[in-house]
Amino acid sequence: MQHLIDILDLSTTEIDALIATAKDIIADPAKYAEKCRGKKLATLFYEPSTRTRLSFEAAMYELGGNVLGFSEAQSSSASKGESVADTAKIISCYADIIAMRHYKEGAPLVASLNASVPVINAGDGGHNHPTQTLADLLTISREKGRLSDLTVGFCGDLKFGRTVHSLLNAMVRYENVRFVLISPEELEIPGYLRQELVKKGVGFQETQSLEDAMPSLDILYMTRVQRERFFNEADYIRLKDSYVLTPEKLVSAKADMNILHPLPRVNEISVRVDDDPRACYFKQALNGKYIRMALILKLLDIA
Ligand code: CP
Repeated sequence: MQHLIDILDLSTTEIDALIATAKDIIADPAKYAEKCRGKKLATLFYEPSTRTRLSFEAAMYELGGNVLGFSEAQSSSASKGESVADTAKIISCYADIIAMRHYKEGAPLVASLNASVPVINAGDGGHNHPTQTLADLLTISREKGRLSDLTVGFCGDLKFGRTVHSLLNAMVRYENVRFVLISPEELEIPGYLRQELVKKGVGFQETQSLEDAMPSLDILYMTRVQRERFFNEADYIRLKDSYVLTPEKLVSAKADMNILHPLPRVNEISVRVDDDPRACYFKQALNGKYIRMALILKLLDIA
């Protein structure tokens, strides 16, 4: 039985196969409409979500399966003190596969060690968000036709942004990918990730200037400053508008640069950018449904 807790649980061969399946689903959805008939997905969300939970649920419905679950800890027995380990054992009696989001880093791992069905990490604290990474990779693959030979700029909250951590870990494994890390000093990537980049000999540059970085980028990955992870509201208010992408700032960008954002956005991308053909963030959210369909099929071992 395979779980997905960290993007590194998947080899690049497995990621490429998931992307191929997602593209086949997009081309011929009818072929997949009955694949999960009789199967149930449980979505256990201890932290708010729009895209991840609902795209998982839409994915299972489009595969012919059913869904059950909760969208906040308060409506589950977690509010009475039930542990993640016990919850995972119980839900294994009711569902064939579990997608879990939790505010505590490592909670989906604990669930996977106690469940008797596959567990998918749907985001754990400031740590990882592997299915968002799969959606990001499918988007880059569809837009660029490759996952190698790219300069990828990450901009914003690189400290707490779990989607950044997962995508960095995934993309270092593709050839000739280099990174430009754009953030205020307080929101730089965690030290352990920087050490990994150095250890692997990956090309990267850290800067505070989006304007300086812009002309070199093939992909610009914007992120929200993660208010919920700050200990101090004053720090959040000081940093929240560090970067605001506008059409004016895009003048120096490549004509075929792609703008990604895991969403939700607050102020970091002006709505005036939405009609720019380089803006991919709404397509990225749709791709999230297709790649989660592919992942459910893989983890349930359905061909
Ligand atoms: N990208 C993402 O994880 O969005 P949600 O928080 O809405 O699920």
